[in-house]
Amino acid sequence: MSGIDVKDAVREKYSQAALRVRPAGSSCCGSTSAREPCNPITSNLYDTSQAGAVPEEAMLASLGCGNPTALAQLKSGETVLDLGSGGGIDVLLSARRVAPTGKAYGLDMTDEMLSLARDNQRKAGVKNVEFLKGEIENIPMPDNSVDVIISNCVINLSGDKDRVLSEAFRVLKPGGRFAVSDVVTRGEVPAVVRRDMLLWVGCIAGALRDSEYIEKLAKAGFECIDIEPTRIYDIEDARVFLTGKGIDVDAIAPQVEGKFMSAFVRAVKPKTTAK
Ligand SMILES: C[S@@+](CC[C@H](N)C(=O)[O-])C[C@H]1O[C@@H](n2cnc3c(N)ncnc32)[C@H](O)[C@@H]1O
Repeated sequence: MSGIDVKDAVREKYSQAALRVRPAGSSCCGSTSAREPCNPITSNLYDTSQAGAVPEEAMLASLGCGNPTALAQLKSGETVLDLGSGGGIDVLLSARRVAPTGKAYGLDMTDEMLSLARDNQRKAGVKNVEFLKGEIENIPMPDNSVDVIISNCVINLSGDKDRVLSEAFRVLKPGGRFAVSDVVTRGEVPAVVRRDMLLWVGCIAGALRDSEYIEKLAKAGFECIDIEPTRIYDIEDARVFLTGKGIDVDAIAPQVEGKFMSAFVRAVKPKTTAK
């Protein structure tokens, strides 16, 4: 799997996902049709007060694996950037938290997702938001311009995670916070899972091991790094996301049980840097 193949497959999958979102439908991350069972990774992430604060379409388009806006500390007046903003739910929620003087940016490479997100912004009537087209490996923002980077189940989709983390570091202001939900693995994951493109675009195969994530963040220059599990997946959860991928789930059960988790990944850009 080359980086380009992965990116094309990811773009195709999420452009289809954006087109499927309808108020009467459903859209679960990792599912290829509305009739598939809800993926345990992406269901029930937002509480009712958050759901009530955004348009229904933004909630239906939620394809994340956590709720970074609930865990990130956001203050009025701050600038927030959401890497891979999808239908815009976390951008809209963040915009309310940093209002009236702060601003929330969403960055996404998929035209259909950007169009959905901009529609959702109009429906929400939120002004302090801007959706940008671009790739998280080449963030179209100046150095030292962002207070908080959030992201929800996107960094695991990138074929070049070092580049994403160094770009995140570059655009954060000194003292800026990295506050991201992502799928992370603990220990070795079977090669048959790592090789599967459908599992990559479904946020599984590209997930970093926790120790590797910490190493990569440190290499990018971050400090105060912490990975907090928010959901740990058992074999029945794994069955939902591995079924239909030509993988004998029972045969590899002991190798996947408890190995996948959704986690909140925190780090800080030092106030003074050698870079
Ligand atoms: C799993 S969805 C998550 C969307 C959103 N964060 C949420 O919680 O609903 C992944 C999103 O990231 C975008 N994406 C994936 N890889 C990207 C990349 N390398 N650069 C920019 N956007 C990317 C996709 O287009 C898609 O909208």
